Amino acid sequence: MRTDTGQTVYLKDYQPTPYRAPHVSLMFALHPTRTVVRATTVFEPVTGGPLKLVGDGLNLVGVEIDGKKAPASAYEATPDSFVLKTIPKGAFSLTLVTVVSPDDNTELMGLYRSNGVYCTQCEAEGYRRITYAYDRPDVLSVYDVYIVADAEGDTLLLSNGNLVKREVSGGRMTAQWHDPFPKPTYLFALVAGDLGAVSDTFTTKSGRKVALNIYVEKGKEPRATYAMDALKRSMTWDEVRFGREYDLDIFNIVAVSDFNMGAMENKGLNVFNDRYVLADPAVATDQDYSGIETVIAHEYFHNWTGNRITCRDWFQLCLKEGLTVFRDQEFTSDERSRGVKRIADVRRLRAAQFPEDASPLRHCVRPSKYDEISNLYTATVYDKGAELIRMIHTMIGEAAFRVGMDLYFFKYDGTAATIEEFIDCFPIADKAAFLTWYQEPGTPRVTVTEEFAAGTYTLTMTQTPAEGAGLKPIPVRLALLSGTEFVDPSTATITGGQVGPGHIILTDKVTISVPNQATAPVASVMRGFSAPVIIERTPDTARDLFLIAHDDDPFNIWDAAQRIALAAMRARYEGTEADEAGLAEALSALATNPDQEPAFRALTLILPTRQALIEAIGSDVDPVRIEAAHQGLSAAIGSHMKDVLERLFESPLPAPDDVSAEAAGHRALRNAALTLLTAAGDSGRAVDQAANGTTMTDRLAALGALAFANAPEADEALKSFAAAYDGEPLVLDKYFALEAMRPDDGAEARVRGLMSHPKFSLKTPNRVRSLIGAFAQNVGAFHKADGSGYRLVAEVATALDKSNPQVAARLLTSFSDVRRFDSQQREQAADVLGGVLQSATSSDVVDIARRLTAKQ
Ligand code: TRP
Ligand code: ZN
Repeated sequence: MRTDTGQTVYLKDYQPTPYRAPHVSLMFALHPTRTVVRATTVFEPVTGGPLKLVGDGLNLVGVEIDGKKAPASAYEATPDSFVLKTIPKGAFSLTLVTVVSPDDNTELMGLYRSNGVYCTQCEAEGYRRITYAYDRPDVLSVYDVYIVADAEGDTLLLSNGNLVKREVSGGRMTAQWHDPFPKPTYLFALVAGDLGAVSDTFTTKSGRKVALNIYVEKGKEPRATYAMDALKRSMTWDEVRFGREYDLDIFNIVAVSDFNMGAMENKGLNVFNDRYVLADPAVATDQDYSGIETVIAHEYFHNWTGNRITCRDWFQLCLKEGLTVFRDQEFTSDERSRGVKRIADVRRLRAAQFPEDASPLRHCVRPSKYDEISNLYTATVYDKGAELIRMIHTMIGEAAFRVGMDLYFFKYDGTAATIEEFIDCFPIADKAAFLTWYQEPGTPRVTVTEEFAAGTYTLTMTQTPAEGAGLKPIPVRLALLSGTEFVDPSTATITGGQVGPGHIILTDKVTISVPNQATAPVASVMRGFSAPVIIERTPDTARDLFLIAHDDDPFNIWDAAQRIALAAMRARYEGTEADEAGLAEALSALATNPDQEPAFRALTLILPTRQALIEAIGSDVDPVRIEAAHQGLSAAIGSHMKDVLERLFESPLPAPDDVSAEAAGHRALRNAALTLLTAAGDSGRAVDQAANGTTMTDRLAALGALAFANAPEADEALKSFAAAYDGEPLVLDKYFALEAMRPDDGAEARVRGLMSHPKFSLKTPNRVRSLIGAFAQNVGAFHKADGSGYRLVAEVATALDKSNPQVAARLLTSFSDVRRFDSQQREQAADVLGGVLQSATSSDVVDIARRLTAKQ
């Protein structure tokens, strides 16, 4: 039962609440099926009038006003709402007693149990599944929390803020927590259970000593040490780069195995999906390590961007998410490699956000309406949101950006803010124009044309807005290469754009001309991917090869190589010729360049994804030819580069326990070589490494190489891998994902079979994502013309619609790609989605299915 089904919420309807709620006191008597929650909220009238609170499927058993039992006539309550009819004068306290069943909570929102551990998830609207409240981010309260449980020994009873008291007597344990920082309901958290701990301390720059704890399943403590290291580095970095100090005496992180998203930034008590905490080289890949570092940092950084300053309403979600993603990207850039991180982030943006922005699910970074808030945690809000912050940074520079951030923290600390208030802190020329980035969906295009006549080189950039959108200010970073030298920018005449430090703002058209050139310079445009746009430039392999050889912008070097590779892949798809030997030669030069870091060189060896080819073809795509083009080009490049790849693969292997970015780069380079060699039909090395690799990174890379090359040995290698890691759920997830993504004919049947694997369960989101989510990424199998792939995903989504609607809705978003395929696929999908919509009951699934089936 949900409160919000079918109700569209509009930004323009925002109204502050008629009461403040300055203080909340919560008492939990924990029980697996009958937890009693006694919530006392102090209400202070602002304008006064009726007091209306929301609930979600609640069972109300008691009501008190100012500590006295309220007569039934004083209020009206349903499972989803509470209205106080008799309102006392002035401030008063309202006590509501509810009974909830953590064990029956399959949605993983509100209070639930995961592996016997009680935990909560309140963002965005989970608190209303615990007790009635305003449950909106602009109502901030100081919390006192009392937890009572039948427990003894070292059972944990945790909540936000600082521990006041903890007592054990006669099999009963109580703990009391006080959080001095006013916070919205979505940041409330409680955790209770038997967990192991890794503990440390951190002394902030002003000398506050903070106790740090990471709680994990008992016995897995050694796997939490990397997360602890990442936490301490995050704390230091935020002090240095943003001047932000931690503000409580304790910072706790708890890892749970059943979690809908990556992690949650609850004040002083972050709750994590255990895949973003647990790691050791035997079970975690280098990618897992960097994922842990990113998510630990992200949630920690929310303490200032999200918690100390929160969002006025959920339309402002990007205020905390886009900004915090930007901050975690900067952290990784500073800790690891800026160039490599930028490439990784743009790959992600192009793979997830650009398609989303062109799909029926497209929406603004700050939308003006939504049907279901859980469906707004998207690549657009997070990743495009981060790009908008990055553009501000590019336009004003690091020093002014830091001043603007300081002003933002100074002005809005302790409040619930808006995007306008944030933007107002920065000295950008035309704020109204910049705001359109937040208020209009779609990806703008920048067309680049070049002319060279009588020694004068002229470059023109023109903006074409996305459909239905207007022109936007686009910061363009640009350099011109004349031979191996960069052209002095002061010799250029720039018309039509505003010139800022290190960039030009393009609105409709910019022309740059340089006289007295012996030969035409080569332009390196959108350096570092200075804006989230699609660059349209006449294909020119010679120019791209030149940039690969002479540019010094890592992103543009990589992008030039990807352009050539994508053109070659597209030629295979279309049955035309491309100079694959030339491509192999360019890639060889890049991959062996001793002046570049191994992680960068590895990225250049990873061919464009199937998804990138689908986007390039654009419509009526044939999934069979996509797969053939990808595999065909991989095999061809693998044979052309055989000698180079063999040499790279023979390069020294870092120590297995060296998880540094540098060691990861060396492994990535070897494994990129292995992947291409295996694609070329030479699977001996991969078979050996899959069985005997000394790190999970190496074993998994080898398995992936075998699987994606459709090597005959893949089946057996995967089976013995699964047998070896039967007791490791997070490793089995990797196995499930590979089985689901294998580009053979058996994927759908295999996935159906694996759904009855003893370790598979629809109750654990990580399992669903690794098997079914990965299957939806299998281009050939998901988009099979007979509709069998669509039916499988729809069946699972329909089953989850009842038990975990958030995960169900997330799965369904894979259908937004269908528009790129043949009419046969589109008809099958329309049919399948129609069925989903008919049987769906959750607002989450209804919202996505409706948008996917709406007439465009
Ligand atoms: N705020 C969290 C983050 O980005 C993510 C989050 C939003 C979430 N909604 C959630 C996590 C629901 C779990 C469940 O860091
Ligand atoms: Zn976040």
